[in-house]
Amino acid sequence: MPISPHGGRLVARQVEGPEAAEQAAGLSGHPVIQLNEREACDLEMLGSGAFSPLEGFMDRAQYEGVIEDMHLPDGPVWPLPVTLSSKQDTDSLSPGCRAALRDPSGRIAGSMVVGEVFEADLEREARLCLGTADVAHPGVAYLRGLSGSYISGSITSFRNRSAEPFADRKLDPRETRVLFKARGLETVTAFQTRNPVHRAHEYIQKCAMEVTDGLLLHPLVGLTKDDDIPADVRMKCYDALLSNYFPASRVVLSVFPAAMRYAGPREAVFHALIRKNYGCTHFIVGRDHAGVGSYYGTYDAQLIFDRFTPGEIGIEPLRFEHSFFCRRCDGMATTKTCPHSPDNHIVLSGKKVREMLSLGEVPPIEFSRPEVASILIEWARNRRD
Ligand code: ADX
Repeated sequence: MPISPHGGRLVARQVEGPEAAEQAAGLSGHPVIQLNEREACDLEMLGSGAFSPLEGFMDRAQYEGVIEDMHLPDGPVWPLPVTLSSKQDTDSLSPGCRAALRDPSGRIAGSMVVGEVFEADLEREARLCLGTADVAHPGVAYLRGLSGSYISGSITSFRNRSAEPFADRKLDPRETRVLFKARGLETVTAFQTRNPVHRAHEYIQKCAMEVTDGLLLHPLVGLTKDDDIPADVRMKCYDALLSNYFPASRVVLSVFPAAMRYAGPREAVFHALIRKNYGCTHFIVGRDHAGVGSYYGTYDAQLIFDRFTPGEIGIEPLRFEHSFFCRRCDGMATTKTCPHSPDNHIVLSGKKVREMLSLGEVPPIEFSRPEVASILIEWARNRRD
């Protein structure tokens, strides 16, 4: 039996091809709501069912339930707001009216039946959801740029799939579910990532593959912060890794078109629930999942799962300790498996690796597979030139 989508039903609120063009044309004369990049990502996620059971941008009751208590008013766990901020005068947006949703490129990317316009205290949202109101946190900086009023409503997303970035590498939740079934993968572990793949990633992915039938490598390709390594480079790294070190039949590599929120623990739950919608049964949560700077404790993103019953979450979190290469063990390990002192361990932060790359230094083989390192070095060189 495939795993049930979150809330019990996979939402599908998207149209494509001529139908999308026809619906977009039918909106002429209707109010237009401008989307920012995150909201455009969210629209696609809502339409594809990745955000099931949500059917649109949140209303005040949903928003309050989520930020205060991490639950939607009708029961399911939901840890982060999915909201649409107003950028202009909202007088023309009466409840029940249809509005066009315009993405940052100017395309009409969807429609919305307007629910309500409500005011939000964005500093309170930041403190509750991100654990800080420090503007150095990218999620807080994002909120600081918003107006403070949100527009709710159920959406329809107008997809133009062949023109989307990574079109040939993208599978919607329905499609991953069909693929897992066709490959006979009853249990599948999902791996969320926004960084170039390194040996510790590979180690925890392979540990998970020892206990489940398949692995969904799901690099996030939506909005990230400026100093994160671009998604196309990260995808090249994955291609190199997979063709050299992974059995093709048990791994699916597909892009995850969501925006990063850098919300640490809450985002770990968010990432897990969404991967359940894609049909995954297990979800990797390692050290400082979806973290940024030092806003969250190393294992906060694992501990947060203890606040819910397993039935509420549905997908099983696979928790991993901080992993590293140990010279004495001559292999990957964690403090759970390695008795040696830290000076034997090769640990490099993302920041350190970016610094090395910018200086043209190749990360050590114990940190990064050579096939991956050469792609990163090449990218850093092109960037410098
Ligand atoms: S994230 O923002 O998407 O979480 P990243 O791509 O770095 O960032 O991490 C992907 C997953 O691997 C997360 O679950 C993270 O906790 C885990 N992870 C990253 N590095 C390590 C490590 N050295 N040891 C254990 N888990 C790790």
